[in-house]
Amino acid sequence: MSTWAVVVAAGAGERLGGDRPKAFAALAGRPLLAESIERLDASDWIEAIVVAAPTGWEEPTILLAEELAAGKVAAVVTGGATRAESVRAALAEVPREALVAIVHDAARPLVTEDVIGRVLAPLAEGFDGVVPCVALSDTVKRVERGVVVETVDRSDLVAVQTPQAFVCDVLRRAYGGDLAGATDCAALVERLGGRVAVVPGDPRLVKVTSATDLALVESWLG
Ligand code: CTP
Ligand code: MG
Repeated sequence: MSTWAVVVAAGAGERLGGDRPKAFAALAGRPLLAESIERLDASDWIEAIVVAAPTGWEEPTILLAEELAAGKVAAVVTGGATRAESVRAALAEVPREALVAIVHDAARPLVTEDVIGRVLAPLAEGFDGVVPCVALSDTVKRVERGVVVETVDRSDLVAVQTPQAFVCDVLRRAYGGDLAGATDCAALVERLGGRVAVVPGDPRLVKVTSATDLALVESWLG
């Protein structure tokens, strides 16, 4: 199976703050994005990589890939205004021959070969997509205007991470339609009626959102 990876790195990182987009925030002395590119480039599962970069950061992204000697980086595109638009822009650079696409958030630096293998496996059993998940540890409540209206039964709820894997044709069809309201790729595949499997994620695949998350991930890098 020819598998291409899309890395979405085009977000501003408003909640992290700082003087540059989140993908270029320093993680152990390197741009955060370096970690995902290096790990995906080293993966035996992945043939090539497309990166969606923040507007104006295309050149630094190409240079970063060169510095890392990440030869699988086949294209760097300018991201869009939303995550979904960034995925769409990157998918345009994935060739027709690709059978499988893996989409990964640059904001989750600690992607592993194990989790990539886990999300790929169910595609061979006929699933359209696969998402890595972790159980919710906190109690979940529905709130309206600052007042609790319901405590939600969390027994069948999970939190979903990336990398997410898809049959490439199905993902392309999903991104051919309306992107509004999609916070992950799987949501668009679900809208088409696609079957999406869940596999165990990894607690270390946290999405770097705040400075605290950045420090936590840095401490795990060892
Ligand atoms: N992303 C993207 N294009 C966008 C928005 C987000 O490629 N227009 C990417 C981010 O770079 C990140 C992933 O989608 O890797 C998840 O988004 P998030 O964690 O929300 O990152 P930001 O949007 O950069 O952060 P913030 O919402 O705090 O601005
Ligand atoms: Mg965001």
